[in-house]
Amino acid sequence: MSKKCIGVLTSGGDCPGLNAVIRGVVKSSSQLGYDCIGFLKGYEGLHDPVRYKTLTPQNTTGILNQGGTILGSTNKGRFAATVGVSDRVEIDPELLAGVKVTIDQLGIEGLVCVGGDGSLAIAQQFHEYGIPVVGVPKTIDNDLSSTAFTFGFDSAVECATNALDRLHTTAASHGRIMVLEVMGRHAGWIALHAGIAGGGDVILIPEIPWTWENVCHKILSRESQGKAFTLVVVAEGAALPDGQSVGLERAGAQTQLGGIGQIVAAEIERRLHHETRVCVLGHLQRGGSPTTFDRVLATQYGAHAVRLIVEGKFGEMVCYQPPTVSSVPITEAVNQLRQVDPQSSAVQAAQALGISFGNTHADASPFVAKAERFERNRVPSTADLGQSAVLAFEIANAATADALV
Ligand code: F6P
Repeated sequence: MSKKCIGVLTSGGDCPGLNAVIRGVVKSSSQLGYDCIGFLKGYEGLHDPVRYKTLTPQNTTGILNQGGTILGSTNKGRFAATVGVSDRVEIDPELLAGVKVTIDQLGIEGLVCVGGDGSLAIAQQFHEYGIPVVGVPKTIDNDLSSTAFTFGFDSAVECATNALDRLHTTAASHGRIMVLEVMGRHAGWIALHAGIAGGGDVILIPEIPWTWENVCHKILSRESQGKAFTLVVVAEGAALPDGQSVGLERAGAQTQLGGIGQIVAAEIERRLHHETRVCVLGHLQRGGSPTTFDRVLATQYGAHAVRLIVEGKFGEMVCYQPPTVSSVPITEAVNQLRQVDPQSSAVQAAQALGISFGNTHADASPFVAKAERFERNRVPSTADLGQSAVLAFEIANAATADALV
């Protein structure tokens, strides 16, 4: 009689901890007498052509601390089940039928799908079709509901905090304003946590509307205290004060976010005539070794996913609701984003320390007058011009050049 088998795949944007999950699945299923198969390039490896490799405790040794995924991944491939956040797109029934054949022919008892909201939406449609799946929540953005933490988030925060530590010293040396752009498509978790951990002075996130005036007031208020430098952390998904988000629109795909840091830096410099630099952290946040926290979380997620399969709890996603790792229906996790609550204790603590979210005046200091003077002198902002985000980016740069001559 052939052995029981479990399948695993990693889908969507990668992040630190994927290999730790794979190892957790392989080692814990092996203890229970299962064989394990890893499908290559996410869902793509499930059909036409079927591409997989056999995973064993031996060939997954030493991957716990490795970034990336030994199985490869695909973001928005043939199986994409959403456009944007939650608009459902039906997966081609021929693809679903093909996957079912693969699962049956390989004798797979359950398939562990490791991914973010888009990838788990695919898993949900597999479940509805009768393909036995369980989900594992992955994303550096930490924006999946029903779990306090997705793995990868802590590693990304560590990376962004480290960047702020480094920017802090150079900002202080030169008396400059430093703007750090971090990831966070719909949620400002990375910006919030790194901003607090790295001593940020201004944190701009998608959940809290902000104004240029408030940001500038905070910088001037610091100046009034003799602090010539300021650290600004901005999430890539934060909208500009006029509501526009910044990025490249791509036909048939989600907007590739990025560029708001440059706009924020240029506008601050133009308004305050204070030397400002920008650093875009980008995919550095997705690479490298997982933190200790992420290794522990990812290992638990892998082991718990196997447990769900053994117990026949298909259509469930593992989750962490401290102090317990348990599970919820995948639909619960993907139907709603988990964003930063502006009233949360973390935001309140940050505000108590004087960190600005750009939503209120820092204080009514004598520098208000100075800020108002800058405000009167300013040329029309990108917002006033009502340009597209990408064009706005260019205009902001040009405006900065003008302001400096
Ligand atoms: O969803 C995770 C994420 O890192 C987002 O923060 C970011 O917008 C996106 O992935 C970038 O994806 P890509 O790898 O396609 O550039």
